[in-house]
Amino acid sequence: MDVDRLLSELTVEEKAALVSGADMWHTVAVDRLGIPAIMCSDGPHGMRAQVGDVEAGEMLGAAPATCFPTASAIASSWDRDLIREVGVAIADEARHYRVSVVLGPGVNMKRSPLCGRNFEYVSEDPYLAGELGLAMVEGIQSRDVGTSVKHYAANNQEHDRLRVSAEIDERTLREIYLPAFERIVTAAQPWTVMCAYNRVNGTHASQHEWLLTDVLRDEWGFDGVVVSDWGAVHDRVAAVQAGLDWEMPPDLERSPPAVVAAVERGWLDEAVLDRSVRRMLEMVAKGRHVLDLDEDVDVDAHHELARRTAAESAVLLKNDGELLPLTGDGSLAVIGEFARTPRFQGSGSSRVTTTKVDVALDEITSTFGADRVTFAAGYVIEGETDSDDVDADTLRTEAVRAAASADTVVFFMGLPDSWESEGFDREHMDLPPHQLDTLAAVRAVNDRVVVVMVNGATVIVEPWCDLIPAILECWLGGQAAGGAIADLLSGDVSPGGRLAETMPVRLNDVPSTLNFPGDPGVVRYGEGVFIGYRAHDHLDQRVSFPFGFGLSYTTFDITDLDVALSGAAADGTLTAAVSATVTNTGGRRGSHVVQVYVGDDEAEVARPPRELKGFAKVHLDPGASERVTVELDQRAFSFWSPRHRRWVVEAGSFTISVGSHSRDLPLSATVDVDAPSVRPPLDAMATLTEWADDPAGWAVLDAFLPERHPARSKRFRSLLGSMPIDTLAGFGSFGFTHADVDTLLERVREHHPTAP
Ligand code: BGC
Repeated sequence: MDVDRLLSELTVEEKAALVSGADMWHTVAVDRLGIPAIMCSDGPHGMRAQVGDVEAGEMLGAAPATCFPTASAIASSWDRDLIREVGVAIADEARHYRVSVVLGPGVNMKRSPLCGRNFEYVSEDPYLAGELGLAMVEGIQSRDVGTSVKHYAANNQEHDRLRVSAEIDERTLREIYLPAFERIVTAAQPWTVMCAYNRVNGTHASQHEWLLTDVLRDEWGFDGVVVSDWGAVHDRVAAVQAGLDWEMPPDLERSPPAVVAAVERGWLDEAVLDRSVRRMLEMVAKGRHVLDLDEDVDVDAHHELARRTAAESAVLLKNDGELLPLTGDGSLAVIGEFARTPRFQGSGSSRVTTTKVDVALDEITSTFGADRVTFAAGYVIEGETDSDDVDADTLRTEAVRAAASADTVVFFMGLPDSWESEGFDREHMDLPPHQLDTLAAVRAVNDRVVVVMVNGATVIVEPWCDLIPAILECWLGGQAAGGAIADLLSGDVSPGGRLAETMPVRLNDVPSTLNFPGDPGVVRYGEGVFIGYRAHDHLDQRVSFPFGFGLSYTTFDITDLDVALSGAAADGTLTAAVSATVTNTGGRRGSHVVQVYVGDDEAEVARPPRELKGFAKVHLDPGASERVTVELDQRAFSFWSPRHRRWVVEAGSFTISVGSHSRDLPLSATVDVDAPSVRPPLDAMATLTEWADDPAGWAVLDAFLPERHPARSKRFRSLLGSMPIDTLAGFGSFGFTHADVDTLLERVREHHPTAP
């Protein structure tokens, strides 16, 4: 496609149509110029290709595709290679359905565990979300299929999601809510970025020029298409102006005529519209090749990949007395409706029509043998069984009977589909009480209980978790989760997952709870950068299971930390190579994640005690070792300075800690970083303390002040040090005047190296 030629031949009406899309999933074709329509489809963990009757407006239900583990599950694998592989498989299914752009991954931060879409999001940590989202984008795009990284930006709740304004200071945006997008855009150029529904600091994300153009394009160099979330555009002309290229689905009644009228009346420069049209044409040029494909999908191979991924994503939270794996030949009571009625994905736009579904009970029965396995439903799943028809006491009694006569109980519990979904947030983090009641009754008759959890977002596990020897958090593990659970229970596979989100003791320990989901029309991100473990660590709170945590059927040791700094902060080339040796010290093959955290020992802004800045996943045979090296770049040491409105590294010491999770970091090294001064400028509004703390400022003051001047005394400075020197001069009683301040300023200008 000759984009320049096409651009010159398109009419304004055709241009306005092109930036609007044709229907729910297609771009507009311009037959007279040979411009074809291409298709996009959800989603983040499997294709939801609407190849059926689009006109009928069916939002849910689509052609069969592999449902891989949802984002919260796959994120727990911390496995870039595996996620890339899943990305390739999703892209191959897209190619099969001749879909050019996959609408995912979703990398919004888990600001609150209550967000209804947390199952579709990666982590509470921006670095992890960026790395794993990047792997997914790389995997999908390696097959010449596009992605849509979503939802840009600050879409961290479902409540009032089309109107609410997320009120966030710039530092918090830059350090927490934007970096995952930044990482993916700068490293992989996703074909598209999807804007969020919500407003950010008052302006709709779809019309937010600072987000869509200044930051995304001018700073990060994004050259793809910005697509709206479905229905996120409110003023089409303002959106074009701000940098939103593609409105989906098109508001055909309003948008194209508005764009044409705006160009004709001179309100919208046609060159601005052309910018978006060019990007649309470039995307169609890249994506049109799928229209000619005729490729099959190896459905069984993808199901096997989904099974391997689900196993690698499961997090073993407890395993007292090495109850797991179940290697003996004892009998098993499988209890819980979820074993028979699997819950493996979430509701909403990401819902995949599966190719097949593994039922955990069937898989366990075929793995362990029908003669060893009994089943009891134990409870009903809210919203799925009419609880009036079922007597809870009978179910519980049957469960207790099964538990009492079995050697080991495998108890399935989790969140009902109707409790977490796109479209609304949870109101609490608890599990259904009657599931917990059955668990307690079962535990009273059998102390060998393995709990298998199925939930999209994290739940409260206290106090019952203390009484249960083994807990396997399986998240929403996709269509093959049932098989993966059997593999994990039998020990065919060792759990490889690590928590990508903290499990707090109680919801009220989560600082965003104070402002969630906000007041009418507005949600204030008052906790700033302190979300997830950043908050729990800063507040020194006990958590049920910390960020990064996960056990295995084997054990690991991390030793021999070495940190080598190189480059210079002054020119942006500071790096640190962090190396350590990880050894499988147990008796089984397994995987481990070496995690690297950085803490700024002293900073002018409040920083979390430590933040994840690197990790490496290794798979090791018993006794084997591997030396891993994690490279940290300058950003790993930086914070966003509100004063300078840029990233800065402050000179001083940083602690680099290495270990197995955020609260188990046995190895650490202190490094001294040399960096240009970021001291506040010494002007008339600089405080006496700032002058005194600055070597040049103090040199000037010292030479100027009489020997017995009170400003030399510590006591005076603790009392009045926070006053700007110009204010002190105004008092007239501190021995210097406004004219003296002018002299000080002149002198310091000669001395003071300009802060970069
Ligand atoms: C969701 C997006 C999704 C789109 C298309 C929206 O409601 O927020 O994540 O990609 O629908 O289904």
